[in-house]
Amino acid sequence: MLEKSPFVYWDDSFSVGVPLIDEQHKELVRMTNVLFEGCERGGTGLVSFMQTIQSATNYAKIHFATEEKYMVLVSYPDYEPHKREHESFVAEVLRQVRLFEQNKTQPMDFALFLKNWLLNHIAVSDKKFSPFFIPIADQIVVAG
Ligand SMILES: [Fe+2]
Repeated sequence: MLEKSPFVYWDDSFSVGVPLIDEQHKELVRMTNVLFEGCERGGTGLVSFMQTIQSATNYAKIHFATEEKYMVLVSYPDYEPHKREHESFVAEVLRQVRLFEQNKTQPMDFALFLKNWLLNHIAVSDKKFSPFFIPIADQIVVAG
């Protein structure tokens, strides 16, 4: 039987050249796929949908803290706008959760938002810190 294709793919071209950050990005891709599957199932899938949003948000915050810590360390010139992207993402997730709780949005819209944001952020914004992070790649550890 053919495997169903995932909602979001990891592609090696997304790599920022830092194994730890790449692993965190892969985990966010995996969580987005879990969310999507919850949407597709509907019913009890939607209970796990809310639980996955919660754990994905917590994971994203740890991931953002990691990126931000090392941006400060390397005096990354685009630190402020990048940090604002992270903050507006968290605010948007909270807004979407409220809309979902009030039945004003469809879970699938949220999954699509997550997919688009993630791919854009990883493949465009995060790529830019790559040359700053690669020289210290083996010193980068999880920050909370
Ligand atoms: Fe980022």
